[in-house]
Amino acid sequence: MAQMRLDKLLSSTGRWSRREVKQLVREGRVLADGRPAVAADDKYDPEHTVLQVDGERLSFSEHCYVMLHKPTGVLSATEDRCTPTVLDLLPLELQKRELFPVGRLDKDTEGLLLLTDDGPLAHRLLSPRRHVDKVYYARLDGVLTEADCAAFADGLVLEDGYRCLPAQLRLLADDGGRSEVLITLHEGKFHQVKRMAARCGAPVLYLKRLSMGPLRLDPALECGKWRYLTKEEKESLLLL
Ligand code: URA
Repeated sequence: MAQMRLDKLLSSTGRWSRREVKQLVREGRVLADGRPAVAADDKYDPEHTVLQVDGERLSFSEHCYVMLHKPTGVLSATEDRCTPTVLDLLPLELQKRELFPVGRLDKDTEGLLLLTDDGPLAHRLLSPRRHVDKVYYARLDGVLTEADCAAFADGLVLEDGYRCLPAQLRLLADDGGRSEVLITLHEGKFHQVKRMAARCGAPVLYLKRLSMGPLRLDPALECGKWRYLTKEEKESLLLL
């Protein structure tokens, strides 16, 4: 890690605001290599300096990566005047970090959402040129057919004339009236799954994102809960 200001470093843990770090420094509670830090804007490289607060050694990583099992009813945004956002589902210390959702899920869509403060990674995941695949499970009001699978694979033309990139439609089950499908997209247009399904005459009743590139929604993560990405998950994303 490069040298960083002490207040930026300590606030990056999500445990203190920059103002609180200033106060900690003033009170002599921050030690750098065993000696009280002098100023909050002094710079340190945490790979080479042992930083402690109240005797506790801190560990740092440059970026934070969180997997959220998004529930319905919250917005994939960082703030909104009226509706809770995905950040409201995180504890306060994480809310203090400047995390943002990588891409959007609709308010009524559930499933995998990655939150991070790593702008370049988010850019890579979302770049239209990279075609990172996203897999959705959907319940539909209607039954799709093999002809719809072929239309998805060809590149479905939406109601506004947009031709989607080739996508995969897998028919899982149906009861003659409603059905369950898996849809894999390599792009992320506004309401894309809903518009594709509606185009085939089977509006979406329920939608859940299962994966994004190499990242899969942890089946043990309950709806509305979050966890940090594992080392392996982070590495798989950073390889993209
Ligand atoms: N497609 C949709 O229609 N909605 C989502 O939330 C994600 C993909």
